[in-house]
Amino acid sequence: MTDPAGEVAVVGLGPGSRAWTTPEAADAVAAADVLVGYGPYLDRVPANPRQERFPSDNRVEAERAAHALELARAGRRVAVVSSGDPGVFAMAAAVLEVADRPEFAGVPVRIVPGLTAAQAVAAKVGAPLGHDFCVLSLSDVLKPWDVVLDRLRHAAAADLVIALYNPRSKHRPHQLGEAQKVLLENRSPDTVVVVGRDVGGSAERLTVTTLGDLDADTVDMRCLVLIGSSRTRVSATGAVYTPRTYPADPS
Ligand SMILES: C[S@@+](CC[C@H](N)C(=O)[O-])C[C@H]1O[C@@H](n2cnc3c(N)ncnc32)[C@H](O)[C@@H]1O
Repeated sequence: MTDPAGEVAVVGLGPGSRAWTTPEAADAVAAADVLVGYGPYLDRVPANPRQERFPSDNRVEAERAAHALELARAGRRVAVVSSGDPGVFAMAAAVLEVADRPEFAGVPVRIVPGLTAAQAVAAKVGAPLGHDFCVLSLSDVLKPWDVVLDRLRHAAAADLVIALYNPRSKHRPHQLGEAQKVLLENRSPDTVVVVGRDVGGSAERLTVTTLGDLDADTVDMRCLVLIGSSRTRVSATGAVYTPRTYPADPS
């Protein structure tokens, strides 16, 4: 039996800075009586003695989702917190997938959006996402590496601006370098590249470089990498932007 008072709100806190948490997200977190999420994300929410907290490791998405749904089924108002937007490489899809199981039929789930890291990095340097772009995760934890490389090849050939999430980790130190080689098959070494690290946080750093000069060893999991299209440029004042118009023949 589902207690009608319960619900799961999957909430995006935005990247890093409290200023990037929307009023709707802040209200959803404040209204909850239980908070569930990856420990470092929960740490971003101010303590509230009325609320119970269940921090977990970042590799246990399905278990965390099931736990949140069980609590909601029992009548608790649960907020599952994600950084950025919960629908972008985060908990929203994981919760909806588990909520689709018959045992959770009738448990209300709502998604509260947040600013995603690609938007925050883009705004810090200008407007590199001003024309068509795509978003890829370089992590091969949830999909095969061959699929990642194939998608990179197609995105590069389509001349899309590419936002790379999860670009490099201690367990996957060679993948960004390999991705860079694949991108260079279809893109000029002069292609503008932006690396945003911990944007909105205390260790924020922004680097504007090129695809040829990108030093993959300086990138880690706290970074987001934007690969420009053939049209992305750096203005006289140092702003990075991709023009809104696209020529019939980009060559
Ligand atoms: C598991 S994904 C979560 C993405 C998140 N849901 C979002 O919408 O931004 C984690 C990746 O997001 C990117 N990221 C998240 N916050 C960031 C920040 N403040 N600065 C730069 N990149 C960030 C990094 O690429 C990191 O490896």
